[in-house]
This record gives sequence, C-alpha cells and structure tokens, in this order.
Amino acid sequence: PKAEFVSDLMGKMTIDEKIGQLNLPTSGDITTGAGSESSDVAKKIEDGKVGGLFNIKSVRKIKEVQKIAVEKSRLKIPLLFGMDVIHGYETTFPIPLGLSCTWDMPLIERTAQIAAQEASADGINWTFSPMVDISRDPRWGRVSEGSGEDAYLGSQIAKAMVNGYQQDNLSNNNSILSCVKHFALYGAPEAGRDYNTVDMSRIKMYNDYFPPYKAAIDAGAGSVMASFNEVDGIPATGNKWLMTDVLRNQWGFKGFVVTDYTGIPEMIAHGMGDLQTVSALAFNAGIEMDMVGEGFLTTLKKSLDEKKVTIEQIDNAVRLILNAKYDLGLFEDPYKYCDVSRAKNEIFTKSNRTEARNIAAQSLVLLKNENQLLPLKKTATIAVIGPLADAKENMAGTWSVATNMEKSISLLAGIKEVSKNAASILYAKGSNLDYDAAFEEKATMFGKTLHRDDRTKEELLAEALKIAEKADVIVAALGESAELSGESSSRTKLEIPQAQQDLLAALLKTGKPVVLVLFNGRPLVLNYEKENVPAILDVWFAGSEAGTSIADVLFGDVNPSGKLTTTFPRSVGQVPIYYNQKNTGRPLGNSEGKFEKFKSNYIDERNEPLFPFGFGLSYTSFEYANLKLSNTKMTANQTIKASVEVSNTGNYDGKEIVQLYIRDVVGSVTRPVKELKGFQKIFLKKGEKQTVTFEITIEDLKFYNSDLNYDAEAGQFEVFIGTNSDAANKVDFLLDK
Ligand code: IFM
Repeated sequence: PKAEFVSDLMGKMTIDEKIGQLNLPTSGDITTGAGSESSDVAKKIEDGKVGGLFNIKSVRKIKEVQKIAVEKSRLKIPLLFGMDVIHGYETTFPIPLGLSCTWDMPLIERTAQIAAQEASADGINWTFSPMVDISRDPRWGRVSEGSGEDAYLGSQIAKAMVNGYQQDNLSNNNSILSCVKHFALYGAPEAGRDYNTVDMSRIKMYNDYFPPYKAAIDAGAGSVMASFNEVDGIPATGNKWLMTDVLRNQWGFKGFVVTDYTGIPEMIAHGMGDLQTVSALAFNAGIEMDMVGEGFLTTLKKSLDEKKVTIEQIDNAVRLILNAKYDLGLFEDPYKYCDVSRAKNEIFTKSNRTEARNIAAQSLVLLKNENQLLPLKKTATIAVIGPLADAKENMAGTWSVATNMEKSISLLAGIKEVSKNAASILYAKGSNLDYDAAFEEKATMFGKTLHRDDRTKEELLAEALKIAEKADVIVAALGESAELSGESSSRTKLEIPQAQQDLLAALLKTGKPVVLVLFNGRPLVLNYEKENVPAILDVWFAGSEAGTSIADVLFGDVNPSGKLTTTFPRSVGQVPIYYNQKNTGRPLGNSEGKFEKFKSNYIDERNEPLFPFGFGLSYTSFEYANLKLSNTKMTANQTIKASVEVSNTGNYDGKEIVQLYIRDVVGSVTRPVKELKGFQKIFLKKGEKQTVTFEITIEDLKFYNSDLNYDAEAGQFEVFIGTNSDAANKVDFLLDK
C-alpha cells in the first residue's frame, strides 16, 4: 500500500510540487547557525514549496504550521518537523560525550526513547541525531556531541540511539525518525578547526571512521545528514562516491539524505561552482533534501530543463521523502504528533527527570581521589566555589535546543538538596569564566550566559577565600561553559581558562581539601590539576538534573563508574592522540617516558596521555586476576572464550566496566597496538568476585585491508582484559584459516 499510495500521490504532483518536497527551510524560531532564515515560509508551505521545517518548539505552533500544509496547500501533503533533539528534549541528559562514558547501551537507548517520547509529544517527528562522528582531536568543539574516539564503542552507541528514537516502529506516536550525522568524517578537520578540510586515506575511513555511520544505517536510521567538510577533495554534500557508492550501494541505505545547514550554497565557497552547479552536484551525488540552502528550490527545474538532472532522479528523491512521511503515519493523521494533552503530560515529567538524574550520575568520571577524599560527608561545612557552581543555564551543555535552562539544577542547588542535613553549604563565585570578557562572550552563545560579574578579580577572590576559611572542604566548580565546546567552538588551548586556574591555585593554598568538579565538553589538559588537586570528578554537562546527579556522586549515594571514551592529552602538541594508534617502525623502548633519540617520541613531552581511553576510578577498588583463554588456536568458524576474575577489594559496592582489547600482531597492513572488541559493565558488592567471560569470534578479528576487503588474516592475536586501555596483561592465540 505504501508504494501504491506514494505513486498515486506523485502522479498528481507538478514538478514544482515535487521540488518543494525537497526543500527544508528553517522556521527562524531558533537560531541554529550561519545563513539567513527563509522568508515567507507560510506562503511557501501554502504553495507546496516546503517538505519540512525544523527547530520550531511547541506543539501549538507546529499544529498551526501543519494546518497550513494540510488545509491550504493543493495536495495537502503534511510536513516533517525536525529538531536537534541531541541529548534529550526538555528533560535533558548529559552531552553525548558524557553519556558515552556510561558504556551502558540499554541506558543510552533509554535516553533516546525518553527524548523521542517528549519530542513527539511536542509536535516533533524527526531528530537530527545521533551524531556519530569519531574524533581524535579535542581542539574540535564538537567532540562534545559525539561518543568519543573509538569506532567499536561508537557503533554500539549509534545503534542504541537509533533504536531508542525509532523503536522498530516509526508508526508509534512516540517514536520519531532519526538522522545519523554528519556523513562523513566531520570529526577529523585539520587542526581541529570546525568545518575545516579533511584529508584521510580510504583504509582509515573504513576502519576507524565509517563504522558508526554504518551501524546506524544497519539499525534502520531513516535519514542521514551530509557533513560540511570535504571527503577526498569533494565536499561531502556533493560527493557521489560517498552518498551513492558507499551509502546506497555498499551499505544499502533506503532512507533519504538531507544536507546540513546551507551545505549546498557553501559549496560555492568551497570552490565548486555557482548555485545551480552546486545544487545539481549535490543532487546527482545523492542528496534528497536541501536544508536552508534553497538551491534545489531555485535551480533544480532549470537543471532539469537543461538535462543536468533527470525526472527519474527527482521522482526517486521525492519518493524517499514521501515514504518517510508515510512510515511516520503522517498521511493517515497529519496531527498525529500534535496532541496538546500529551504535551502537557509527557514532557519534563517527574519520572523522566528522576531517570535523567540516575543516568547522569552514571556518566561522571572520577579522575582522581587521593586519600579517599570523596565521598563527602553530608554533615560537613562545604564551600562551593567557582563560576560554574551556580550556573543552571550551563548545566545542559551544547545543542540542547529544547531544554528549559531556567529549570535546570545547578551544582549548588543539587548539593543543597542532596545534603539536607549538612551543617552548612557556603557559596562564592570566586572568578568569572576568564579574565577576558571577549572570550567569555564567545563562550556564552545561545543565551547560555554566565552573567559576568562586574566585581574585580581581587574582590571575587577575597569573597571566596573568606568562605573557604570556614569550610571543612572546598568544592571547586570550574572548567568550560556550555558553549566553550560545541559547534564552532574550536580551541587551540585546552587548559581551564586562566582566571579559574588562578582561583584554583588560591583555593589550594588555603590548605583545605579541594574537590575539583570539572565541567567540560571535551578532554582538557589537566597536568597542574592532576598533580595538585586531591580529587577530580569530571561531570561534563550532565543535563537538566546535573546538580542533583553530581551531588549524588559527591556524597556517595551513587558510586562513580563512568570511564573515558576519549583520551586526555598532556599537551595540545600530542593531538591527535588516541589509544588505538599504530606501533610505527621506531616505537619507544621504555614505558617510563624517557626520551630516546631516533625513536618516535617528543623532546619536550612524554608520549602517553594524561588519562587513557577507558580510564575512570570508583570509590571502591577492583582487582583483575587469572586472565585466560579457552584455547590457544581458533579456526574461522570457531570461537574462543577469554575470561578474567574481577574482585571488588574496596569498601563500597560498585560497578566496573571490564574492557577487552585485541591486537593483531602481524598483518598485510599495519594494525593498531590494540583495539576495543568487547566490554561488560558489572556490579560487584564489596568483597565479591566474578569471572567475566568474553566470546571472541572471527568478526572481532576482521578489518579492511588495502584493497578495502573486510576479512580476518591468519596469525597471532593478543588479548588484553583490564580496567582501561592501558591494560598490559595479555594472553595470545593463533587464528588458523
Ligand atoms: O543538526 C544541525 C547540525 O548538526 C549543525 N548544523 C545545523 C543542523 C540543524 O540545526
């Protein structure tokens, strides 16, 4: 019935109406980036020149706009309503980078499901998520929106997110269409500068960057967004190899592809020709929908007349968009997502917020805890100090379009709420985000202001030191503001801004114990902090319930279990830095970081990171013993079991993320020193021990070789199981093919 219905409808459409379906203007409701907002949107909808709109918030407004489409346009074709529902809707979850540190797929899927539930209750039927761009470069601000540096973990998360949004059945009224982005390689811009050139070998694309996009497609993602960058010298938006050969022919993608914001006209600046040329280039490459650019709307008909594109191609593109509308059930009921009572009852509910609080607590990563300073006693006198302590507008983090910042819980509010019996909670701002007001301005876009304090730095510090003196412990809330990471927030320096570093040094000088609660959307360079601060809890931007979830961890109601999904460098000079690097022909011969001439190392810095991929502490301690394999040989249709005993040897019950890495020792191409191939999140009561077993199959040993064939090669494999990617204990086996 779908094919018939859509063909019938297309039979009635004029060429202009067909091209109209390929057009996605922005409503202008929310500023989302460069480019001017479309004019006369309502008139265009009436004229059948719009296929969807995005980033309008509120079911009432959406209903009004849908009404124009289904009552005033000739063919009454309903609109898609998209939004950047990236990490929750009004109930906001941690930024994706934080969420990835849970390594917990059911939980990640649940966040997408709640997001879909709330968004669909407010009129949205399409989300521009998941963002699955692998990045190994923390200078790039959008590392905050992805799941870190690893393709294996990233693929699992991509799948969980798509399943959460679409729930295997788009016709449910609480599931929404997902859009995997940004295809492709957006996370690898040269020098970490957003939108910059990407240049990468195909073997690296296939092994290290493509898998999460493919995983999202395999999970059934209904749409794909093209990236702004070039791939192999051709902007992704106009790249036929990428959009047709890889996406459609190799991966079998059946949905539609939308550009990113003004992606088509941006190809003029890329140097690919005028608007008509770049629009035809995009269309011929395999793009179906034009976000904001209006290149299709204004030039495609001319290109058809001039035989630069064909009617079959236009029909095919229109069909894919109408199919999506059909799958969403919009033809049956265009107001399906416009139930005002749902909006009232299903958004930012108490139970969603409770789930968000619990989930956020799982995303926090304990980086240091000297002398078990944490957890804090609920009866202590606590001085909460820092520009991010009482900054509820900054808790949700970047790309939280639907969040209600006023309702987010600040760290200060959370600490007060969770420590109801505390002797006293004191607060001082201590400093601005930085001394440089212009820098602060750039870091507070989208109204996520820090309310810059007019007092001098001396006045701010004096107030902080005064309360610090009275406290048993200082909680310093420092780091990045929400928009210091995110889109167009690339940085060349990765330290905490200077004003806050000075504040931290002054607080440490008081001799009081200091807990650093670190807000960040990317790995930061924390040498001084690691050396001098006794306890560091990385809280990312934990969402609307940030304050209570952080306090739950600070006071030990929740034992931290998050593990880094991205490497923290010692210096920007080490970037790009990632655990699954190659060995080189001149690897360093020592692990103490001693410099060796004519080896692959630096004169002025060690090779290893400050905190490796997979790292994260707990209030308890875990010991690993007895790593073993069920066999020392395996053939292509056999499996091997790798097991290890994990014991909780500390004083708290806790969760541990047990990680399995494999090294392919000899290959037809060079292979990484190790690659994540499995993980299990286990819970152990104190004193408990568990044998954790992984099954290794031939699939875990496959990679793309220099002919881009995906297969495993016979030979020796090393297996590591441990608490992070530094795991050194290993056993090995032979693959015999
Ligand atoms: O979805 C986003 C994308 O990630 C960046 N440019 C704008 C799009 C729509 O808001």
